Formats: sequence, C-alpha cells, structure tokens
Amino acid sequence: MRIDILTILPELLKSPFSDSIMKRAQEKGHLKLKIHNIRDYSSNKHNKVDDYQYGGGAGMVMSIEPIATIIEKLKSERDYDEIIFMTPDGELLSQSKCNDLSLKNNIMVLCGHYKGIDERIREYLITKEISIGSYVLSGGELSAAVLVDSIVRLIPGVLNDETSALTDSFQDGLLSPPVYTRPAEYNGMKVPEILLSGDSGEIDRWREDKAIERTKKRRPDLLK
Ligand code: ADE
Repeated sequence: MRIDILTILPELLKSPFSDSIMKRAQEKGHLKLKIHNIRDYSSNKHNKVDDYQYGGGAGMVMSIEPIATIIEKLKSERDYDEIIFMTPDGELLSQSKCNDLSLKNNIMVLCGHYKGIDERIREYLITKEISIGSYVLSGGELSAAVLVDSIVRLIPGVLNDETSALTDSFQDGLLSPPVYTRPAEYNGMKVPEILLSGDSGEIDRWREDKAIERTKKRRPDLLK
C-alpha cells in the first residue's frame, strides 16, 4: 500500500513511522509512505499557505492553491482510492473502517491546521473526511498518524502470528480479555488458576466470558 500524507509540519510525522511495526512495514515493502510538505507547493514568495477568512473572523484558513497543486500532481501519477481529510467534524474512525481502508492500494491523507481549510478543497478534492474522536487537536498530523498506524497494522504480513490483529479489541465486536505473564504470583497477586491449567478449551471459554464481561461493563454500546 502507498500512503501520501500532505502536511505543513512534516517533522511531526517522522517519529511515529520510524520505529517498531510501522518501520518494519516499510522495510518489508508493505508500506510505501511519502510525506509531502504543502509549503513546497506554494507559489507565494514566502511560501505562505494560509490567508484571512472571507467575511471576517478570527483565525487563518489554509489556502486552496498549494493543496490543490500537490493533490493534482499526485493524482496525475497514480489512481487514489481515497483522498482523506483529517478533521474533527469527519466520520468517526472505527475498526471496521480501518479494515476497509487496509484493503486499498493508494491513499492520500491531508492534515488541516489553523481555523480550517478552504471549503472548496473539501467539496471538490477530498473523497472522505475522518475524525479520530470528539475532541479537537492542534492539527491533523497526530490524527493522521493514528489513522495510518491503525490501517497499516492490518495489512496481511505486517504483524506476525504473535501480534496478530485478529485477536485485537473491536475485531470481533468485543474488547479483549485480560492477559498475564510470569510470575504466576507477585506480592500475593495471583494469575487466574484457569490460565495455568493447560486446558485450551476451558481457557478459550474463560477468555470469551471475560471479553463479554469487560465489554458489557466498559462499552455496552458495542453489544447493541
Ligand atoms: N484534527 C483536529 N482534531 C481532529 C480530530 N479529532 N480528528 C481528526 N483530525 C483532527
């Protein structure tokens, strides 16, 4: 999968993809990640990428010109399955949307800033708008990193068996059951006996019961 991220803060996006699973996904060729600085596409002599709002009001708005230029350039090079704008008023990200997006070939992700972006970008160039939650971040970079991480780990081959995405919370509509590792007892706190029993059928049933119990308690909305 190829993912192009358009941002005015490329430095902010380097570290989330230079470690661990995201780094390996790129090394193994599952992910081709390109981070583009929107400023490089400004025709303004000071590389300006924002301007005052028409109609007045506080806050700068990201201009259409540099963003349209980079989007059109990338679109002329390959077909994009989605051109996504990260915004708190987009559709809420979910595991099932991540599953769908992980099957795509080429995705572009636009990070917003300031008061917002010129509405014509959203109307004519963007195909999908995504929010990672009902709160406002300073910009779209952190939400873009969340989106890309949650998609890329689902690409077949990115995770090995031990970290398989199939047993993740939400993947079967339930939260994950609790997990434990050695020692079996620490300062009087014991690992549930059943997990030490070696009875895989009983262990599976226990895990399912715990997953349901936890989901009922913490996220009853998932069971509806
Ligand atoms: N940009 C700012 N806040 C955001 C959010 N909650 N989700 C996606 N992008 C954002």
